[in-house]
Amino acid sequence: MPKNYLKAAVEIAQEAGKILVEELSRPLDIAYKGDEVDLVTQADKRSEQLIVSRLNQYFPGHAIAAEEGTGQETSSEFRWHVDPLDGTTNFAHGYPCFCVSIALAQQDTLLAAAVFNPFYNELFTAARGEGTTFNGKKISVSKNATLSSSLLCTGFPVRNRKLSPNLQYYGDFTQHSHGVRRDGSAGLDLAAVAAGRFDGFWEFGLARWDTAAGVLLVEEAGGKVSDFAGNPYQLGGPVILATNGLIHEEMRAMALEISRRGPALPSH
Ligand code: IPD
Ligand code: CA
Ligand code: CA
Repeated sequence: MPKNYLKAAVEIAQEAGKILVEELSRPLDIAYKGDEVDLVTQADKRSEQLIVSRLNQYFPGHAIAAEEGTGQETSSEFRWHVDPLDGTTNFAHGYPCFCVSIALAQQDTLLAAAVFNPFYNELFTAARGEGTTFNGKKISVSKNATLSSSLLCTGFPVRNRKLSPNLQYYGDFTQHSHGVRRDGSAGLDLAAVAAGRFDGFWEFGLARWDTAAGVLLVEEAGGKVSDFAGNPYQLGGPVILATNGLIHEEMRAMALEISRRGPALPSH
């Protein structure tokens, strides 16, 4: 993998991160994307504008899938997946758990990834075949081998909240582990699995820009990513399960049992 892809992703993520920190200290300008809790701020838009213009400058012709819609389809086999601000709700409330998430894929293969939390200056990177780093040092997933001694993480969608089955999973996994955190940034959640802070993460309904970078971080750190059926996770697929590998089958078995049981509560 040419080094310049990762170098560019890191440089751009850090530049976009400066915009986010700058915007954090300004009065908020929130708009809503349809649903009452699906926020978008000036920070999302400014960050995306910077990232898309830099990518076009460095890699003209590459396709860009960016959350706020300013990317472009092209015939290129290279596609950047961009979340200019992952954790917008946290950002809007001044809770400093948010990041810039940028990944490059060649057809279906993820090549390079950068996830950057500019508030804490935490930079996670990965390049295919070269491992995952945290602030320049190699990291790997945890060695925890049982669900009962694991710390897990999940997330809940901001769209179609009433249709999400996740409260059931949240309850069951909470009772069978050391606990389930809900940090509100899928990019950082996956980075935390890569760094061994969490042993496992799952979520329904994430978009490809939420997960692309984080998936490569986890895989290159020695972890495993699939859907609940054990099939390879496809970007934008209905559910993602990312773990240290050791608790993957145990989590999968429990998820399948929960789904067989069906919803315990009415969905409205
Ligand atoms: C959200 C975050 C959150 C997840 C939501 C996503 P956004 O992304 O990743 O953790 O639970 O489903 O939409 O909207 O802040 O970029
Ligand atoms: Ca996101
Ligand atoms: Ca976002």
